[in-house]
Amino acid sequence: MSGGVDSSVVAALLIKAVGKQLVCVHVNHGLMRKGESEQVIEVFGKELDANLIYVDATDRFLDLLAGVSAPEQKRKIIGGEFIKVFDEEASKLEGISFLAQGTIYPDILESDGVKAHHNVGGLPEDMQFELVEPVKLLYKDEVRVVGEALGLPHGMVYRQPFPGPGLGVRCLGAITRDRLHALREADAILREEFDKNGLAGKVWQYFIAVPDTKSVGVKDGKRYEGWPAIIRAVNTTDAMSATIEEIPYALLHHITDRITHEVDGINRVLYDLTPKPIGTIEWE
Ligand code: XMP
Repeated sequence: MSGGVDSSVVAALLIKAVGKQLVCVHVNHGLMRKGESEQVIEVFGKELDANLIYVDATDRFLDLLAGVSAPEQKRKIIGGEFIKVFDEEASKLEGISFLAQGTIYPDILESDGVKAHHNVGGLPEDMQFELVEPVKLLYKDEVRVVGEALGLPHGMVYRQPFPGPGLGVRCLGAITRDRLHALREADAILREEFDKNGLAGKVWQYFIAVPDTKSVGVKDGKRYEGWPAIIRAVNTTDAMSATIEEIPYALLHHITDRITHEVDGINRVLYDLTPKPIGTIEWE
């Protein structure tokens, strides 16, 4: 369980169906946003009192991903490793025969020809679990209706979506720990500013992507090479097509100032104006 809308709704459905027989596994693949794993532990482990197993697998994932730059290969590695971690956790428990996951309809549609969504492309053929995917025929807006009907908190149901491979598909090319750290910090600033300025509830999805390219800059009179942070902020209803949010210029300036001053390694901020199609929402 990532803590995102889809897996949270599936967890809520399963708590209704099988109660304490449900074991939620939160795998921290090291590609979560700032503070996210802590929030999952707080909400599901403490407030909702779910059986929650927390696994910090950061080193495992980052070691496997080191030097891998092809987007589809990265997705397959992340998806495959997820299942291995699940397998290991399940084998420590008795009588686990089902794996439930929050696959939704666009994951299935787009895995056929666009990109392997990690919960579709990564599963091994000899998997020992029987799959349970109760929301696989629903679009995101419909999953939210189910979440509300189940009485999940509004903030959880209307959270912006976060992809299974996490920051892994936003730290473009071969992931390095320092660039991943810069991305996570820049993303936290963007989210904080969207929250403060009333955009969080209005914009469907917003995040930072950081490419594996440096440009020349200047700081304190000296040459300062850094990565660009790319802001993406899109609106959509079903994630199959998307338009660009018109962020006020003053806010873009302020976010640029904060990121370039507060995040080590970032020396430019760009705003991605590309709709889907032709760009997908995520960069990888
Ligand atoms: P794209 O990039 O295909 O994204 O335009 C459409 C929506 O799907 C999310 N996304 C994913 N969600 N697993 C998920 O659960 C994935 O592997 C995945 N890849 C993309 C993306 O964030 C956007 O909301």
